[in-house]
Amino acid sequence: MTESTLYRPEEPGAQPPSLFAPYGSTVKRAPSLKPIFIPQTLTETTGPNAWADLMGESLADLTTQHKGVPLGQRIVVGGRVMDDEHRPVANTVIEIWQANSAGRYIHVRDNWDAPLDPNFTGAGRVITDAEGRYQFITVRPGAYPWGNHYNAWRPAHIHLSLLGPAFATRLVTQMYFPDDPLIEIDPIANATPMPYRQRLVARFDIETTRPNWALSYLFDIVLRGRDATPMEG
Ligand SMILES: [Fe+2]
Repeated sequence: MTESTLYRPEEPGAQPPSLFAPYGSTVKRAPSLKPIFIPQTLTETTGPNAWADLMGESLADLTTQHKGVPLGQRIVVGGRVMDDEHRPVANTVIEIWQANSAGRYIHVRDNWDAPLDPNFTGAGRVITDAEGRYQFITVRPGAYPWGNHYNAWRPAHIHLSLLGPAFATRLVTQMYFPDDPLIEIDPIANATPMPYRQRLVARFDIETTRPNWALSYLFDIVLRGRDATPMEG
């Protein structure tokens, strides 16, 4: 056994399956055949030495990307990225994308009846520090309808992508808010069963709230092992 395999694997069902019938598009995209083993080469197992050189510096404040201040509830989101032993994962790039406070994305296929905000793009990027910590400032996204089934609404969520050290190590997940009644009726959230689904829900934290300025949510991310954060396939 090599060192890289010496970790306690996740419990069965702790990650969402690639096929979850109530989430309609997984029926179309889930593989119906067994995966094909493709040996990894340097292309897959390595990445740039310095992501910042490739991608630019962090964009940690989504509320200052335009002339004005975006509408909505200003929030701070922070947490730690950790491995299976809860050791910090430093210097990893987290990409962030989300709807605006009305639940609308800037996207050609998003044209439902909610306003765009000229002061909010909804995209950012942060890099974890030596303790694996990250933090960004944004506005709380709104819920939005989607065509999965009759009267389907996505709970408020922020998409997060963790690049890791190589192109093949990218992990993608969604963060939800603890006071949202839509979570328990959302097929995407429900593709991860309880209690694991709770790992996708951020924690409101009064300690890191900034008085007279912003609410604060904490969302720790564990990359693998017994406490792994559920990730999209
Ligand atoms: Fe979304």
